[in-house]
Amino acid sequence: MKFDAIVFDLDGTITRSAPGIMGSAKYALSELGKPIPGESVLLRFVGPPLRDSFRELCGLNEDETEKAVALFRKRHNAEGWKEASVYPGIFELLYSLKKAGCHVALASSKSLALCEKTLEYFGLRRFFDRVAAPVPGGPEISKRELILSALPENAKAPCMVGDRMFDMRGAKEAGVYAVGALYGYGSEEELSQSGADETACDVKALRRALLGDFRMPRGRFITFEGSDGCGKSTQHKLLKQYLESCGVSVVSTREPGGCPISERIRGVLLDVSSMGMTDECEALLFAAARTQHVHDTILPALESGCTVLCDRFVDSSVAYQGAGRGLGDWVKEINARAVKNCLPDLTLVFDISPEEALARRLSQSQADRIELSKGELQRRVYEAFIEMCEGPDERFYRIDAAGSIEQIADSVRQKVMELLTGEAEDKRK
Ligand code: TYD
Repeated sequence: MKFDAIVFDLDGTITRSAPGIMGSAKYALSELGKPIPGESVLLRFVGPPLRDSFRELCGLNEDETEKAVALFRKRHNAEGWKEASVYPGIFELLYSLKKAGCHVALASSKSLALCEKTLEYFGLRRFFDRVAAPVPGGPEISKRELILSALPENAKAPCMVGDRMFDMRGAKEAGVYAVGALYGYGSEEELSQSGADETACDVKALRRALLGDFRMPRGRFITFEGSDGCGKSTQHKLLKQYLESCGVSVVSTREPGGCPISERIRGVLLDVSSMGMTDECEALLFAAARTQHVHDTILPALESGCTVLCDRFVDSSVAYQGAGRGLGDWVKEINARAVKNCLPDLTLVFDISPEEALARRLSQSQADRIELSKGELQRRVYEAFIEMCEGPDERFYRIDAAGSIEQIADSVRQKVMELLTGEAEDKRK
């Protein structure tokens, strides 16, 4: 490890805050009936003090500037801050730094409350040992002082990562190695002239600068299961969006399918012209599609450190072919070979009664061959999933799928973030 303590700036280093800032500036100007400047001018709001921007970029007088600042803050505090997103790969970088035993801290000129709520919202708070930021009404603090208060007294090789000249200068004044994040809002020229010891053009390069060849930890494998019509695909999409906004590298896939060969098998399995397929043929085709999918898509993604989200996996075969079609344990046997020990870290089972699920399905789309199966099959499938949740294997997590989309999305997020931040592991210890 090159460094034992790393201090990050927030805006432009951890989060891409421009969308919320530009949106809030636009809102303030339109409420005041002022012309809205183009994107390139709005982008210049990111960084400098707000008053200067309204005055210099939009030509507002003193009175208008005060009103604009108040309107900006109103919108930004309510929703604008959530329009930010974390740069892709930052989540895994912070996770790796903690695994490597590094002190991780934040030093930002944004208010402490906003820093805390941003880190919390994007699931990053657990990775930070300290957060140094000004409190409203408190004394003015220089970047140098913020950096020093974010570091532990005994840091031997401290480093600061930031995207603007204030960060680089503050680091040098504090006697700390400075890494410029070129993917943020400052230019190469700005960063090297203000004292950057090194620059990183993207998060991958930043990772190399901070961690050398420290191995990327293996990614996590999360599956979505439940009866037809349980709403898992909607939740899969929402979770993917949220995780990406948190800077998690996500690979999203599905079964049957998920790679070209297995998508072709999917066609054979689900097409209504395959009526008459024997149950054994069906089970073997699902397993065949799965083994190719694990080989071509899932394992490579996990090995490169990505989080894999998969709609249905081996548990669907156990429920549909094992319990539903009555093929029993033979389905587990053929699948043991197919998955090659690649089992999910977390399986979310969306629990909704087969009757309610049927009503939802009929109102939504055309049914495929398996969905057209009789009611008893769906009942056996449902019971098999519930049995998995009630069994000893802790990877299964039952989600009540009868609530609103937002409520369900919240429980999904909570459970998944416990896994991805390492909180679940710490709880078990
Ligand atoms: P899916 O595309 O997930 O459909 P939906 O989004 O409507 O739930 O799955 C297609 C069908 O394939 C579904 O009825 C469940 C079935 N299936 C099995 O019977 N066994 C399996 O191993 C898998 C993966 C799916």
